[in-house]
Amino acid sequence: PASDPNLVERARRAKAQLGERVFVLGHHYQRDEVIQFADVTGDSFKLAREAAARPEAEFIVFCGVHFMAESADILTSADQQVILPDLAAGCSMADMARLAQVEDCWDVLADAGVADVTVPVTYMNSSADIKAFCGREGGVVCTSSNAKKVMEWAFARGEKVLFLPDQHLGRNTAVLQLGLGLDECVLYDPHRPNGGLTADELRAAKVILWKGHCSVHGRFTPEAVHDVRARVPGVRVIVHPECQHEVVLLADEVGSTEYIIKAVESAPPGTRWAVGTELNLVQRLAKAHPEQEVTFLEQHVCYCSTMNRIDLPHLVWVLENLVDGHVVNQVTVDAETEHHAKIALQRMLDLPG
Ligand code: 13P
Ligand code: SF4
Repeated sequence: PASDPNLVERARRAKAQLGERVFVLGHHYQRDEVIQFADVTGDSFKLAREAAARPEAEFIVFCGVHFMAESADILTSADQQVILPDLAAGCSMADMARLAQVEDCWDVLADAGVADVTVPVTYMNSSADIKAFCGREGGVVCTSSNAKKVMEWAFARGEKVLFLPDQHLGRNTAVLQLGLGLDECVLYDPHRPNGGLTADELRAAKVILWKGHCSVHGRFTPEAVHDVRARVPGVRVIVHPECQHEVVLLADEVGSTEYIIKAVESAPPGTRWAVGTELNLVQRLAKAHPEQEVTFLEQHVCYCSTMNRIDLPHLVWVLENLVDGHVVNQVTVDAETEHHAKIALQRMLDLPG
């Protein structure tokens, strides 16, 4: 538990003993008890860059979820080891796109005669083999902070985008940031024959959205936005782009976790916010900014259960093992997958700005 002074002291001691040999990354959705030991905190994009920029650290302890640790392993050198304190910290959205399903989808696009003119774009929240697929097929990775720029990159190279695996980020970016019509986006359901789409529908579409979503952000509703506006005069509603399109349409601002934090940090005292993203982040923001009124957009939405698997006992366990010379819970990506996934990640990291 957060208040266990013994565990806090053990984590502190182990970190001090390891010194520069270890670098701890913490995603904004992590618990307070864990985030206090992060050398850097950030959104998925910032953490990927930070991992790549620490060649001196032998061990990268990634307090986040599995796909983030995989990306860190891909972006770090072969002699660095990436550790995920609990290997069961996955992501239900990433699990919604399996390589075999995506390869089937590509065959469906080929049969419709559109695979050649389609650029696959995968959200960071996907497994390394999906990123590798994108690398092999001329595609790219994006995160919630650069999806617009990445989609523009893709449209400069092809007529269509296949967007994996988050339909909401894909739709919100295509419609609200690139100005495409809702009717230019179609939804590919991997559980239906041919994705539930006809060849004509695929030929007419500009964006083919994979039918995946975040089980946390998908729960915020338009009613919650109406509700909070009625209850809190002058409230600013700020949400993550993994929220449903109808929710994002009603919000005042939309952005990545890093964007949300910066927006609140830079607002004048007395600003009222309703925040639609993971609860650990919102609670920390509220505590850090008592001069503003920060509330959670929808009371029944809960923590991300997989992010929450990383707790102080797990962190202490991996750090103390490192002190004893044992690497536990290492995340590795095989060389072939890493090669192609790195191409897709690098295309994103090389985009200007
Ligand atoms: P960002 O930190 O990139 O906004 O991503 C949110 C998320 O859901 C990570 O799992
Ligand atoms: Fe995955 Fe959603 Fe949790 Fe992020 S918040 S790790 S997208 S389930």
